[in-house]
Amino acid sequence: MSSAVSSTSSPPQPPPLRSLPGSHGWPVVGPMWDKLNYFWFQGPVEFYKKGIEKNKSTVFRTNVPPSFPLFVSVNPKVVALLDTTSYSHMFDPEIADKRDTLLGDFMPSLGYTGGQRTVPYLDTEETKHTQIKRFGLDILKRGSKLWVSELQINLEEMWSTVEAEVSAKGSANFVNPLKQNMFKFINKSCLGADVSKSPDIAKSGMSYIDRWFFLMVFPTININIVQPLEEIFLHSFAYPPFLVRGGYNKLIDFIKTEAREVVQRGMTEYGLTEEETVHNLFFMFYFNCLEGFNLLLPDILGRLFTDKTGLQDRLRAEARQNGGPDLTFDAVKQMPNIRSLVWETLRFKPPVPTQYSRARKDFRLSSHDASFEIKKGELLCGYLPLVMRDPVIFNDPDTFQPDRFVGEKGTELLKYLYWSNGPETGDPTATNKQCMGKDYVTLSASMLVAYLLRRYDSISGDFTTITALDVAK
Ligand code: HEM
Repeated sequence: MSSAVSSTSSPPQPPPLRSLPGSHGWPVVGPMWDKLNYFWFQGPVEFYKKGIEKNKSTVFRTNVPPSFPLFVSVNPKVVALLDTTSYSHMFDPEIADKRDTLLGDFMPSLGYTGGQRTVPYLDTEETKHTQIKRFGLDILKRGSKLWVSELQINLEEMWSTVEAEVSAKGSANFVNPLKQNMFKFINKSCLGADVSKSPDIAKSGMSYIDRWFFLMVFPTININIVQPLEEIFLHSFAYPPFLVRGGYNKLIDFIKTEAREVVQRGMTEYGLTEEETVHNLFFMFYFNCLEGFNLLLPDILGRLFTDKTGLQDRLRAEARQNGGPDLTFDAVKQMPNIRSLVWETLRFKPPVPTQYSRARKDFRLSSHDASFEIKKGELLCGYLPLVMRDPVIFNDPDTFQPDRFVGEKGTELLKYLYWSNGPETGDPTATNKQCMGKDYVTLSASMLVAYLLRRYDSISGDFTTITALDVAK
C-alpha cells in the first residue's frame, strides 16, 4: 500500500479546492454522444478512463445513460466519482440522499414492483426504509439457522447433477444448475417456502425472475449484442411491465401461499401491509439476493478453474486442513486464502458496478488530491470497477491477486473494499444503505469454494462449464 493511504486516512488539511472539471455538453447532443460512447464505441470502463485522462481528475461532470430519444424525463447529468476517497462520500447519510437513485435518475415503472417503491429505492430519511430493512434483517437472521444446512443440501444436489452430466457427456454447464439450486435454497432458508410445492415455480421460477430483472434494467446495462441492435432495441425505450407481469404475479402468489409465516410477520411485527411485505420480499430475496449471487458465484468459480498458478492446490490444502470436519460459517472464517479469493473477485469485478446518490446539501467533496464544491441536488455516480482499481490504495490494481487480502496488510485493505455500498469492515443497519446480505454473500461464496475443494481432487473448467472432475479419494 502506498504512503498516500496513511495521509488520506487522517489528512491534516483538506486537499486544495478546484473547480469541478468536465461538462454535460450541448443539450440532447451531449447526452446522446456520451451514451453512444458509454454503450457502443468505448464501453463503460474506457468511457470513464478517458474522462479521467481528459479532465486530469477522478471527479468530473459527465452524462450517463439512459437518455435521448425516449427517456425525456431522465436527467443524464452526473458527477462521476472514480477514486476511493471521493466515492466514500456516498456512504455518509448526512450527504447522500438515496431516494429513487438505485439506477440513477432512471426509475423503472412501479408496475414492475406491484406499485411499491421497494426498499433499495428508499432513503434513510424515509421511515419506511428503516421499517422494511429491519424486517429484512430479521428474516435473514432467522433464516441463518437453516442457511448453512440448506446451502449444503443444494450444493450436494447441484454437483451430483453436474458430475453425472460430465460422466455422460464429457462436459456440463454449471451456471443453470447453480441458479436453480440457489433459487430453491433461498426460498427455503429465508422465506420458508418449498418450491417443490408448485411444479410451475420449481421449473420456471428462476427464469421468470431473470426475464423480469433484465426487462426492467435493460436501459442501463450493456449485454454486448451486435450494435446498433443493442442501441435500438435495448437502450432507446423502457419495456412496459405487462410483458413480465404473468411470471411476476405467479411468484407473488407463491410467496403469499408458501411464505405465509414470513408475510404474516412483516404485517404483525413490522406494521407493513400485505402488499408492502410481499413486493419487498420479492425484491430483497429474488432481485438483490438471487441476482447478486448469480452474478458473483460463476465469476469466483471461473477464477478458480482457469487459474494456472496452482491456486486450486493451495486452496484445497487450506479447505482440507482448516475448519474441522463440518463446513460452517465459523469453519470458513479459518480459511483466509479462500476468503481472499472471494474478496479479490468482488474487487476485480464488482457485480453491481454503479451506485448513485443525490447531494442532500451543498458540500465539499474530496478526492485524493483535490476538493470540489458540490451543489444540493447534484447526482453523484460512482463507477466501482475503476474505484476498486484505485492505484493509491491497491498495488498493481489491474492484476488479479487471489491472496491480496491475506495477512495483516491484506486485512487492512478491507476498509477500501466497497462492493456492498459500504466498506467491507462496516455493518448493514436499518439506518444505513449498506447491502443487507453482505456477510452472507462472502461467507456463503467461501463455503461453496471450500465445499468443492473438499469434494474434488481436481476440477477443470471455465466460467460456465466443467470439463473434468476428479472425486476426492
Ligand atoms: C453477490 C451478491 C450481492 C451483491 C453484489 C450486492 C450488492 C448490493 C449493493 C451494491 C447494494 C446497494 C445498491 C445501491 O444502493 O446502489 C445492495 C443493497 C441491498 N442488498 Fe445486496 N448484494 C448482494 C447480495 C444480497 C443478498 C444475499 C441480500 C439479502 C439476503 C441482499 C439484500 C440487499 C438489500 C435489501 C439492499 C438494499 C439495502 C437498503 O436499501 O438499505 N443483497 N446490495
